Amino acid sequence: MFPIVEARVLGPNVKEFEIAAPRVARKHQAGQFIILRIYDRGERIPLTIKSADRERGTITIVVQAIGKTTSLLNELGKGDSILDVVGPLGKPSEIEKFGTVVVIGGGVGTAIALPTAAALRDAGNHVIAILGARNKGLVILENDIRAASHETFIMTDDGSYGEKGLVTDKLRELIASRGVDFVLAIGPIPMMRAVAECTRPQSIRTVVSLNSIMVDGTGMCGGCRVMIGNSSKFACVDGPEFDAHEVDFKVLMQRNEMYKESEQKAMADFRLNGGEEVKRVRGACANG
Ligand SMILES: Cc1cc2nc3c(=O)[nH]c(=O)nc-3n(C[C@H](O)[C@H](O)[C@H](O)COP(=O)(O)OP(=O)(O)OC[C@H]3O[C@@H](n4cnc5c(N)ncnc54)[C@H](O)[C@@H]3O)c2cc1C
Ligand code: FES
Repeated sequence: MFPIVEARVLGPNVKEFEIAAPRVARKHQAGQFIILRIYDRGERIPLTIKSADRERGTITIVVQAIGKTTSLLNELGKGDSILDVVGPLGKPSEIEKFGTVVVIGGGVGTAIALPTAAALRDAGNHVIAILGARNKGLVILENDIRAASHETFIMTDDGSYGEKGLVTDKLRELIASRGVDFVLAIGPIPMMRAVAECTRPQSIRTVVSLNSIMVDGTGMCGGCRVMIGNSSKFACVDGPEFDAHEVDFKVLMQRNEMYKESEQKAMADFRLNGGEEVKRVRGACANG
């Protein structure tokens, strides 16, 4: 069992958990993730390690509730436990001195990009962060991102905070006004695809983190297959970060849509009977 030692709400449907997982904490590098299973009949889902505290033996994750498992997880709190935590998985982010670096986080992508932004800053880059959200209430981890970067711009679709517009509007402005050497973009697939198209004309090195469906996280099940250039790769062991100009985003979107019907059914059942399931999971934590 992996006890939850702290939990706090960051925004609507977004929660941060500090989990005791000393072995994972010891080995973690920026860009890596875990696969967790809340209870014995639960689904295995991948979540990025936002930070690790080796002395406390804990890792911190940020979870956006979008379906059954993430909603169940976000019902848990301090004192509850998670059955399995496997990791750290995936290749660490490529950290080099590139020069001027733009790190873009859309929604929960901000949490995923955070450790890499901090590592790029520590490697001597000038880090400019752009956070994108639909409105002010959905901006998360602003203070953490400000601490991990030299400059931070916030873009909201409705202009309720920061500047009105898309993350790509700010990126285009930065490319035109001062030159950019490297871009990391993490967020919804349409956002990452738009960033790739923004930087392609000038061939600015651009990396995205792919959220393909993962099951085992070890390269065995084939669930996370993605097309990079003309080759097929497994996001769990070859990624999750890839050259954005090589990613076939259409294939990624099609594969992520494959289980839509069963995911919607699981969420509908959870809305009806979720209370009972949360109680069972809590009971299992207390007895485990
Ligand atoms: C490497 C990686 C790191 C991630 N890091 C984070 C993170 O730090 N915080 C966060 O909130 N989310 C993260 N995600 C996304 C998270 O895994 C999904 O939101 C979660 O699996 C959804 O499960 P669900 O049962 O709640 O929703 P469902 O209703 O089952 O699915 C909703 C959507 O989530 C995606 N999804 C579903 N099952 C999986 C799966 N087994 N593997 C991958 N994607 C799936 C699909 O796009 C699906 O359409 C990450 C995904 C990957 C691949
Ligand atoms: S998750 Fe099974 S091969 Fe990547």
